[in-house]
Amino acid sequence: MTDQNLAPATFEVDGKRLEFQRHPAVEGNDGVNIGSLLRETGLVTLDHGFMNTASCESTITYIDGDEGILRYRGYPIEQLAENSTFLEVAYLLIHGELPDMDTYEGYMHRLKRHRLLHEDFNAFFHAFPAHGHPMAILQAGIAGLATYYPHTLNPKDPVEVDKATTLLMAKVPTMIASIFRRAAGLPLLYPDNSKLYAEDFLWMTFGMPYEKYDVDPMLVSALNRLLILHADHEQNCSTATVRMVGSADANMYASVAAGVGALSGPLHGGANEAVLAMLGKIRESGEGVAKFVERVKNKEDDVKLMGFGHRVYKHYDPRAAIVKKSAHEVLEKLGGDNELLDLAMELEGIALSDEYFVERKLYPNVDFYTGLIYKAMGFPEKMFTPLFALGRLPGWISQYREMLEDPTTKIGRPRQVYVGEAERAWVPREERQHKA
Ligand code: SDX
Repeated sequence: MTDQNLAPATFEVDGKRLEFQRHPAVEGNDGVNIGSLLRETGLVTLDHGFMNTASCESTITYIDGDEGILRYRGYPIEQLAENSTFLEVAYLLIHGELPDMDTYEGYMHRLKRHRLLHEDFNAFFHAFPAHGHPMAILQAGIAGLATYYPHTLNPKDPVEVDKATTLLMAKVPTMIASIFRRAAGLPLLYPDNSKLYAEDFLWMTFGMPYEKYDVDPMLVSALNRLLILHADHEQNCSTATVRMVGSADANMYASVAAGVGALSGPLHGGANEAVLAMLGKIRESGEGVAKFVERVKNKEDDVKLMGFGHRVYKHYDPRAAIVKKSAHEVLEKLGGDNELLDLAMELEGIALSDEYFVERKLYPNVDFYTGLIYKAMGFPEKMFTPLFALGRLPGWISQYREMLEDPTTKIGRPRQVYVGEAERAWVPREERQHKA
């Protein structure tokens, strides 16, 4: 929504002066609507990585990268992480308000009724190699849900969109737990409706069919907190992917599955797994933290300090601070790999005082400490990014729904600046000169 009272942005090129209306933000950066640029000037903007480009107006999450602020629907992440359950935050993100008691009870009951996967999925999980990366299987499984629920695919039908929302929120935990169990050679477990969301996920992941499973309440609250911290994050790579795919009127499963693919990248959600690999290599190699930091600064073999840096946060990621505190609690209680935690903290200490990282405003992000907690909980490293996906699921769903409901949404189709060959004529093969 533009505001005619705000001074427009002006743009001059080839003697032509254009005025672009502002889209005022409630918080953060205002937008400038450049919708007439191409028509009026024949120019397109070029913005690598969309560092200066807003793809939409959104009411869901707000980040202030300089102040280290993160809010879901206006609520500070610190308060939600401290006081809410993940399911309550999922409801907040998807429906815009924190649920009252009756609504929350009804929401939990609705999800409980849909936690089971179709029995055919057992064959699905066993169709992949046991060593296959769980993110590839998860992406296929989520996309495949569309084949079982054909009456929940129409993005133009709010009832079908609500059904797909429920089915994804209910079934993805079961899917992730089953992927882990199959890889570990363990029998797949059915959901236990006497358990709440996070507790039931831990049961399906770590429970055994021959004994009662008493999950440590500290574990449940740590998992709730971690899932809340991952639940949404404005237009990050995977969320922007979900919106892009959804803008073609693709169904919610296909759009979220595309988001899983984007999240799997080590520059994005795959970083939590990469951090543990990095810490392990530093320990095994015996090179020491200082030597490793030097290699990062020299950009040897494009080595990066995984779990550090962020496109938006140019200060400490507020989620990382909460995770770091949780890591101490969980490792103390569960006896995790304290050596690796000490290594991570030594690495953080050096990086935060080293000019290379300070001048580039590189701070720990949400992925730096999470893997240490997941490992202490008993998850193998390959399961770290699926856990990120479980947390991000309500964010992807809420953003997909907002995209559908936004009357300004158009199919995403960026332009380009063509820098290839000018027109040239075809020549017969025998006349072609070989080019190296
Ligand atoms: C997530 O967008 C989101 O919100 C994502 C996320 C979410 O919740 O959805 O927060 C989750 O993806 C967190 C980020 C996880 N990824 C990592 O930890 C991987 C390591 N980090 C980097 O790859 C990097 O910091 C990014 C990808 C996170 C951000 O990259 P940018 O914004 O494109 O920054 P850049 O690559 O242009 O870096 C600027 C400079 C460069 O140096 P110079 O060319 O100026 O000399 O900083 C350097 C980079 O080489 N740099 C790093 C570094 N990150 C940036 N150098 C060493 N180690 C790093 N981690």
